Amino acid sequence: MAKLKQSYVCNSCGTLYNRWQGKCEGCEEWNTIEAEIGVGASAGTPKGLDGKKGRFVELVSLDTPVPNKPRLQTTITEFDRALGGGLVAGSATLIGGDPGIGKSTLLLQALATLAKNGEDCIYFSGEEAIAQIQMRANRLGYHGAPLRLGCETNLRDILTTLDQGKPPAVLVIDSIQTLFADHVESAPGTVSQVRVCAHELIAYAKRKGTAVLLIGHVTKDGQIAGPRVLEHMVDTVLYFEGDRGHHFRILRAVKNRFGGTDEIGVFEMSSRGLSEVTNPSELFLSDHNSREPGSAVFAGIEGSRPVLVEIQALVARSSAAHPRRAVVGWDSGRLAMVLAVLDARTGLGFAGCDVYLNVAGGLKISEPAADLAVAAALVSSLSQTPTPEESVIFGEISLSGDIRSVSNTPARLKEASKLGFGKALMPKDKKSETHGITVNQIERVSDLVAQFLPPDMTGTP
Ligand code: TYD
Ligand code: MG
Repeated sequence: MAKLKQSYVCNSCGTLYNRWQGKCEGCEEWNTIEAEIGVGASAGTPKGLDGKKGRFVELVSLDTPVPNKPRLQTTITEFDRALGGGLVAGSATLIGGDPGIGKSTLLLQALATLAKNGEDCIYFSGEEAIAQIQMRANRLGYHGAPLRLGCETNLRDILTTLDQGKPPAVLVIDSIQTLFADHVESAPGTVSQVRVCAHELIAYAKRKGTAVLLIGHVTKDGQIAGPRVLEHMVDTVLYFEGDRGHHFRILRAVKNRFGGTDEIGVFEMSSRGLSEVTNPSELFLSDHNSREPGSAVFAGIEGSRPVLVEIQALVARSSAAHPRRAVVGWDSGRLAMVLAVLDARTGLGFAGCDVYLNVAGGLKISEPAADLAVAAALVSSLSQTPTPEESVIFGEISLSGDIRSVSNTPARLKEASKLGFGKALMPKDKKSETHGITVNQIERVSDLVAQFLPPDMTGTP
């Protein structure tokens, strides 16, 4: 047997080292590197296999029929949507999210629903006692669901239990950080433990055709705790996000080997657990008041669905040398870019102002199509003029100040029309389908500013 090599691994990003050092070069964190004994790849290059013969692997062509189980529908449509159409047999899914966001609740509800529909499901919790889980399930109306519960953190015991009898259709591990493999000498939650436990469970999923769902904690900067390799190992990575102050929760796929990655599932947390939100626009616009300056309605697309959200901006004079720029729900770099373009191309002066930008409802937007809506909210707040009545706004702003067209325009307009909006400020678009919306084409940022300011105003607040 090859000599076990001592290696060191960063607890935060998983970078391997041959010797200990104080600072990780991978993620620049201090004191995150610890010893790892004889598991996983060693830091050096393999010296080559010894003379032993391996097993012959049968090779097939692309169109050789291979038995494939249909996807398991949880019947929680928003959950299935984020998964790309249901759970795939033999797949491993990682669900990450802040503590208390509702990961355990979501998976308990999904599993209890599946169990009620006749699927064999097992839920292993390392965090809560059986009584706690039962109490929650009863409160949420899943009394009597034939779900099998276990309270265990030892990987060996979990696998022994699973190997008895028929493998379940779905297995939940809550959470991967609480598990420990007794042949690895480090504490639960460390890189080596997380990696070994995940590896064993994923191997079990592939071997038995069970869909395995792993709950993962996130670190303070929002990454799933443990090595990045965990995200590489699983088939699907979902993040459950939301603002604790709001009751909306968004399940977002960031990696999916079986479907698109930009689909989201929207839920609402209430005293009766998580319920699905089938029309997110209504929710995000529920207390929208478009007549206030600084508010603009953005017609966005999340995955394949149009979502209308309110973008709020507050521009206030500041005497500080470095005025504040605070953003919630959007990229701060992108805000800086929009402000720079407005400054450079229209002469509006944001330099002496604090700028606050908020995407209402706790949604995080990453689409460049939000540029124009953000610009409209900013100019509206600066000029103290409300955005045009009953209007949705979308379009990408380029550095030259041109407004570039974006994808899915008909879907955006259709959603706006459905929710009672009559106008759209949007880029030039050749397609004629407008769903009864009056289109106001904006070609340059200066056209946008002209919507708010009388022509002689040169841009002081
Ligand atoms: P939980 O699923 O335990 O979160 P996680 O596993 O991600 O840490 O959810 C806990 C939170 O959800 C808790 O703060 C209370 C809230 N909650 C409700 O508001 N209503 C409910 O019906 C349930 C079960 C939880
Ligand atoms: Mg939990």
